[in-house]
Amino acid sequence: MSTTSIDSLQHEERRFPPSEEFAANAVASSGLYDEARADRLAFWAKQSRELLHWHKDFTQTLDWSNAPFAKWFADGELNVAYNCLDRHVLAGNGDRIAILWEGEPGDSRSISYAELTAEVKRAANLLTKLGIGKGDRVAIYLPMIPEAVVAMLAVARIGAVHSVIFGGFSAESIRSRVDDASAKLVITADGGWRKGKVSALKPAVDAALAKEGTHTVENVLVVKRGENDVDWVEGRDLWWHEAIADVDAEHEAEAFEAEHPLFILYTSGTTGKPKGILHTSGGYLTQTAFTHKNVFDLHPETDVYWCSADVGWITGHSYVVYGPLANGATQVLYEGTPDLPHPGRWWEIIQKYGVSIFYTAPTAIRSFMKLGREIPDAFDLTSLRVLGSVGEPINPEAWVWYREVIGGGKTPIVDTWWQTETGAIMVSALPGVTIAKPGSAQVALPGISIDVLDEAGNAVPVGGGGLLVVSEPWPSMLRGIWGDPERFKETYWEKFGTALFEKPKYFAGDGARLDEDGDIWLLGRVDDVMNVSGHRLSTAEIESALVSHPIVAESAVVGAADETTGQAVVAFVILRSDQSEMQTADEASALLRTHVSDQIGAIARPRQIFIVAELPKTRSGKIMRRLLQDVAEGRAIGDTTTLADTSVMQIISGQLGSTNG
Ligand code: WTA
Repeated sequence: MSTTSIDSLQHEERRFPPSEEFAANAVASSGLYDEARADRLAFWAKQSRELLHWHKDFTQTLDWSNAPFAKWFADGELNVAYNCLDRHVLAGNGDRIAILWEGEPGDSRSISYAELTAEVKRAANLLTKLGIGKGDRVAIYLPMIPEAVVAMLAVARIGAVHSVIFGGFSAESIRSRVDDASAKLVITADGGWRKGKVSALKPAVDAALAKEGTHTVENVLVVKRGENDVDWVEGRDLWWHEAIADVDAEHEAEAFEAEHPLFILYTSGTTGKPKGILHTSGGYLTQTAFTHKNVFDLHPETDVYWCSADVGWITGHSYVVYGPLANGATQVLYEGTPDLPHPGRWWEIIQKYGVSIFYTAPTAIRSFMKLGREIPDAFDLTSLRVLGSVGEPINPEAWVWYREVIGGGKTPIVDTWWQTETGAIMVSALPGVTIAKPGSAQVALPGISIDVLDEAGNAVPVGGGGLLVVSEPWPSMLRGIWGDPERFKETYWEKFGTALFEKPKYFAGDGARLDEDGDIWLLGRVDDVMNVSGHRLSTAEIESALVSHPIVAESAVVGAADETTGQAVVAFVILRSDQSEMQTADEASALLRTHVSDQIGAIARPRQIFIVAELPKTRSGKIMRRLLQDVAEGRAIGDTTTLADTSVMQIISGQLGSTNG
């Protein structure tokens, strides 16, 4: 979907006027735009004080003197967990439900703010008892159960730093993340429910920690969820429910500096090694709370909010944990897959809880579209009033279907552009404010400066295309890459750095276009990052997983357009010369698909692997992925004039007839 031509989409009939019921929001939002335009820093300082509780107020809003290393609200002090929990209880909202949890097999739990606060206090005491202190790193590898939220908040409460690892990642991926961050503790579960059965988690942690070399992990804390049998390492492993039973229930939240690290979240970049994106406390919480409140027009007393993202991704951090809880929202948390035990499960959950704000990814919407509208039509979805989309550009067909079938033709859709690195939403329509244009993320939020620039750093004219840039620092911006300040500067700040501008601008890695109204249309990544079902994968990371297998001599990976997942992983592999005779292409391809899954996780498993004799390269030896993408998408092969050997593409396309599959 990343290559959708926008010219074909800008028809007048595709525009939806703002809904009148959001008139109040429209007035409030236009005030925010005015304030932010008048004084951006004063605007953020005011938002931060209004939305958060500061144990110690700040005097300075932004320090950008050491760009690109920003400090926001630097001399202020706060406790992130206190902001998400205690203060709501103290304000008299302890009985309000924080989490309406729904397990995949149909079990459920409802947890009030008072109960969640109590649970996090105990967990904080438990962590302290296990020797975790301020600044220590804790890896979290859990299913979507309330303990995932409790664990993250408990880590934050004591000033430790969490690194959540998505439950679909392999032992190899766990180990590299644990090692990179030198984690002292891993919090996991025996298993969780996925796709109708228990999927074990602890064995992957065991395997990760059993790998060669020394690691820093002292304990593994295990939540019982799947009831599956697990191996046990005496002295290292502890059951969560046993360990938490005998700790004190009282815990006072200590205040930490605004720039104290909150979490590291690994994400794919253009090299083989995932980057540990670092977020800190005060600025991150300010912008997640601000965006969650304003983009979704949240009314915490009456709304029931649901974001379908897993806590293993940034969307789960910002819009399941920190944003909604900072705002005192009531939210649904669902453990399992969308289609179990029946394909209407999500709609049944919306009906059951009266969900009013729903935030999901285009890939999910497209899957439901394929199944047909009879499925959602069988449920009462009239409680919905705002719908959100995130993860990739939403194609206009899916946008219209989402609004008509799920939103009953009346709900605004907020298409939210942002990244792991930006920490919170940056570009989005606001409910009731903007004329909605299916497919366009539309406008920068108040207090956010977005530009579309050409390679030379000039703003593109209206109607033009270029690179998306954030031109002023923002509160929830990443503060660095864990342990690698050079990579941080190179990746994000050099392209539009001080050679072009007095202060560097943030290069997002996305292409974008401005239409005649100045609205932003995202066109997909311009670097070697793929977007599969809204999840980021790096071509280089999958290539290095492939070449780590002894039968592989060389590989090239591309993201090919895919109707449901947006993009799909397609690999081209040259086998070692002594191997090509030993296995058929089908055998090698099956073996390598499994290998990638073992190395990274099932989400990275290639849809197809083509065993080829050559790869197209330029004279300087760079693989021309663009040509492979043409092949993978079944297009006529583009310009081959820069190829070192122009016959190679004919060879590849000729070969594919026989190895396709
Ligand atoms: C893409 C997910 C178009 C984009 C929050 C970005 C989008 C990458 C949108 C970040 C959107 C996310 N429209 N593209 N509304 N939202 N993207 O770090 O390419 O997992 O750079 O963060 O997803 O992915 P990440």
